[in-house]
Amino acid sequence: MAPFDISSLLARRASQSDEGAIVRMSQRARELRAKGQDIASLTIGEPDFDTPAHIQAAAAEAMRKGLTHYSPVTGILELRQALAKKLKDENGLDYAANEIVIANGAKQAIANAVLALVEPGDEVILLSPYWVSYEITVRLAGGVPIILKADVDEDFKAPPARIAAALTERTKLLILNSPSNPTGAVWSRPELEALAEVVKSHPRLMVLSDEIYEYILFDGKMTSFASLPGMRERSITVNGFSKSFAMTGWRLGYAAGPAPLAVAMARLQSGITAGANSFVQHAALTALSAPRDDVEKMRARYEIRRDMVVKALTAIPGLRLAPIPATFYAFPDVGAFLGRKAGNHVMDSVDTLCDWLLEEHGVATVPGSAFGDPSCIRLSFATGEAELEKALARFAEGLNRLSA
Ligand SMILES: Cc1ncc(COP(=O)(O)O)c(C=O)c1O
Repeated sequence: MAPFDISSLLARRASQSDEGAIVRMSQRARELRAKGQDIASLTIGEPDFDTPAHIQAAAAEAMRKGLTHYSPVTGILELRQALAKKLKDENGLDYAANEIVIANGAKQAIANAVLALVEPGDEVILLSPYWVSYEITVRLAGGVPIILKADVDEDFKAPPARIAAALTERTKLLILNSPSNPTGAVWSRPELEALAEVVKSHPRLMVLSDEIYEYILFDGKMTSFASLPGMRERSITVNGFSKSFAMTGWRLGYAAGPAPLAVAMARLQSGITAGANSFVQHAALTALSAPRDDVEKMRARYEIRRDMVVKALTAIPGLRLAPIPATFYAFPDVGAFLGRKAGNHVMDSVDTLCDWLLEEHGVATVPGSAFGDPSCIRLSFATGEAELEKALARFAEGLNRLSA
């Protein structure tokens, strides 16, 4: 008998990962650091700030009070009511508490929504550049991702005609992420209105609007897609605490949608995780109700860094940059540098370029190929100003060194 081999038993669906390039780049950066090299890293997709102290204290207090048991599958009622109020006051959305499902992070809220809606063979429109987890989740549900690309000249926002042309009778869902990871783009109200017209023209198209970077906004206004006339019934609004409140490790997010969809999401969540952590939900109540000074301080720091990034990147000849009105990401187009050389080393792809920038110039970034755009590089500015300054100088020095 052949020796027992567990790897041959693994399900195919477990072979996909959404973080390949990010993990590879951060791992290599760690290895080089361990060898004593000075590496400046712009890879990480999470706030470099700690969770505000009053939110930490609220979690500790909830634990002390014994709020450590299972919570209802959809989340504690007080938090769902507080979220309904937040969505009403800040986003102009009317959701009842029973139309909100709290989950272990926005990531799980997205998985709940996709699994609750998408049948095998259903087409799901993904607007590239995009956060690759969407694609993994759609495939997990047996859906067919239809990837529509927009480039730097379009500020990375696909025009409505391109979306309309991609719709078929099998289209079920479109995933919208404004503000966007990795581009920092924000869809304006008129742009969303044009998208809503496309949605109205299709008999069964739903939109999942991932608004997790809502509070990290520098220019313009944030509009929730579901707040547009007629779009509430066609939408699922997803948000979470990770980015805005620097609570990535707490794992808390939510999805709001029409009641039957909320029931379906809760049913799935019940079978998979039974719901979010109970004392974290109590801490989140404090995060929502307490003054938002810390949130504003973090936002202001990201804005300073955004300005540093824009100044440094726009000074690099050949690099193209779209506006970055939000998030802590820049997504410059470095297409003009592909094919250029350093000595005999040809930058034949953005992956090669990112590897070379790391190995030769000590700056870690993520190739845009990880987000569906092989001409771009993602730089995260969720890092201290001194490290950022150093990283930007190295990035510019590397690109400027390349010859045709
Ligand atoms: C666009 C987007 N949506 C959702 C998430 C996941 O957030 P959470 O930590 O709440 O699962 C991320 C995290 O990187 C993200 O970039």
